[in-house]
Order: sequence, then C-alpha cells, then structure tokens
Amino acid sequence: MNIDVLTLFPDAFEWFSSQRHVRNVVAAGSSLRCLDIREHTPLSGGQVDDTPFGGGAGMLLRVDVIDSALRAHYGIDPVRLREQRRVIALTPSGRTLDDRLVDELAGEPALTLLCGRYEGFDERIVEHFASDAVSIGRYVLSGGELAAMVLCDAVLRKVPGALGHEESAAEESFSRALDGHPEYPHYTRPADYRGWRVPDVLLSGHHERIAQWRADRSRERGGASH
Ligand code: 6GU
Repeated sequence: MNIDVLTLFPDAFEWFSSQRHVRNVVAAGSSLRCLDIREHTPLSGGQVDDTPFGGGAGMLLRVDVIDSALRAHYGIDPVRLREQRRVIALTPSGRTLDDRLVDELAGEPALTLLCGRYEGFDERIVEHFASDAVSIGRYVLSGGELAAMVLCDAVLRKVPGALGHEESAAEESFSRALDGHPEYPHYTRPADYRGWRVPDVLLSGHHERIAQWRADRSRERGGASH
C-alpha cells in the first residue's frame, strides 16, 4: 500500500508516522508520504487559498494550487491521475468512512489523500481531480488532516503485517468475522478489582463456551451493518 497525503501541514503527520503499526507496514514495503501543498503553489507569497465567490465565511483551497501540487508530484495532468489510483478528497460532505469502505481502500495498491483546510476545497478539485470524497462523520473538523490520519490508521492496520498477529484485524469490531457487529468486551488481570469480577466463563478455560459467550455479547451490542 502506497499512500501519499497532500497537506498544508505535513508536520502534523509526524507522530502518526512513528506509530508501531505504521512503521511495521512501511518496513514491509508500504509507504506513507506527506507532500506539502504550499511547496508547489504557482501563486506569490506561498498563497494557497482564497475567498469564496458569492461571499461567505472562510477560505477555500484553490484549484490551480492543487493542480500544480499533483502535477509536480506525479508528472501528469491530475485529471488523468484518478484513472491510475484512488484520489480521495477529505471533506465533511463525502461518503462516510466505515469498515466496508476501509476494506475497499485497503485492497487498493495506492491512494492519494487531499486534505482541505479552512472552509474546504474549491468544488472543481473534488469534481475533476478526486475519484472519491470521504468524510469520517457528521461533524466538522478544522481541516482534513485528522480525518486523513483516521483513514490511514484504519486502512494501514488492515495491511498484512501491520499488527503482530494476522488474525487481529480479522476479528475486530464490525468485521465480517463478527457478522458486522461491534467487538465483545475484553478483560485482563486482576480478575477481581474492587469487587468488579471478570465473567467466570472467561476464566473457565472452556474455549467453546468462551467463543459462544463472546458471540452473544457481540450480538447484544448490536449495530450490524448488514
Ligand atoms: Cl474528511 N474533513 C473535515 N474538515 N471535517 C470532517 C471530515 C473531513 N469528516 C468529518 N468531519
């Protein structure tokens, strides 16, 4: 998996890039590169944004700026780029990210993420350069960076080798192995803390009963997506 993130704040990704599961997948041949949109702006003074036509609050990322950034990085007309790889604009009006979309994206060889700032993108960026518009939920963030990290985190942990154990991602919440249900509750030592006891079945060593108990709890938590 090769992920390129176009952002005005590449430093924001430093902590994320240093996380163990990210370093694991990078060591195994994946990449996560952050590209500074401002570096290739054709405008003077490092300008990248502008006020909206028709009035209104905030600033929009300019279409010519994103055109230049993508062209500089990929060496082709960005209109063609989305035929080669998924180009995802992170915007609150996009398709909501869920486990199904994460699986879909994890199956891609390469992704390009566009992070908007200020009020967002000039719509022509989404229309002509992006293959997808993705949101991480029905609320507004000040920029796409946190959303891009959420998407990268969810996608990269599905890449083989990200987690220590291959089965870890398969049995997680909302996965097919759990029928789209959230995960069952987990407990660790101490088995009794302030009188709050871990369910006896988990201490019983009966693997079948444990599996049944977990399936029941998972189903009880509900929220199946199919
Ligand atoms: Cl992708 N961007 C912003 N700015 N806000 C959001 C979002 C994205 N997803 C939910 N809120």
